[in-house]
Amino acid sequence: MGKDVIVACDFSSKEEVMSFLDKFTEEKPFVKIGMELYYAEGPAIVREIKARGHKIFLDLKLHDIPNTVKKSMSVLSRLDVDMTNLHAAGTVAMMEAAIEGLTRPDGTRPMLIAVTQLTSTSQERMESDLLIKEPLDEVVMHYASCAKKAGLDGIVCSPLEAGKVHERCGENFVTVTPGVRFADGEIGDQVRVTTPAKAKEIGSDYIVVGRPITAAADPVAAYRRCVNEFVG
Ligand code: C5P
Repeated sequence: MGKDVIVACDFSSKEEVMSFLDKFTEEKPFVKIGMELYYAEGPAIVREIKARGHKIFLDLKLHDIPNTVKKSMSVLSRLDVDMTNLHAAGTVAMMEAAIEGLTRPDGTRPMLIAVTQLTSTSQERMESDLLIKEPLDEVVMHYASCAKKAGLDGIVCSPLEAGKVHERCGENFVTVTPGVRFADGEIGDQVRVTTPAKAKEIGSDYIVVGRPITAAADPVAAYRRCVNEFVG
């Protein structure tokens, strides 16, 4: 599995994201485009960033009936992104439909990753609001197993869970892990964080890093530091 650093481009306009990417004159980082930027600028922003030579993780977290997700994934696969995602809570049937929709006529498709329980969901909230009574980490592992059963490539999880996910679902089941901070950096609103080096040690395949790079005084240096620690 090729390890890589994915830069979360959480900007709300084309101007902001392009002026950020313009700083990278030597490398072409793998870029995550989330709802904020996609809803602000539409699919054109994906094509433009792709045309600049970046790999793209389109983080839109689909969750709907299988037929709707299948058709939406079919449209997204035409954007030629490298990775996209959905909520495992949509069921195995929805995830299977997503794979069908995402697969291009030539049999290729972007990697498909499942979100399990959002890290913003606490045990208490899961029990009271979702009426799920099992321990949260078991729910995450169960959703990971469902994603694997449906044929997905991996899940988004905390870097601290990456080892356990590999144990349960195999070494080739991809772990994409946000919540990464430098040892001497600001944590911000993230709670369960670890460093790029530690994420590598535990077994993350891709780390998703936002503010430690986007808000750094020197984003290119911060990106290089991440790559050095994580990819080596
Ligand atoms: O700025 P920061 O490094 O915290 O950015 C992390 C990125 O990963 C953000 O785009 C955030 O939405 C995303 N993410 C996360 N935790 C999850 C899923 C996605 O932080 N469980």
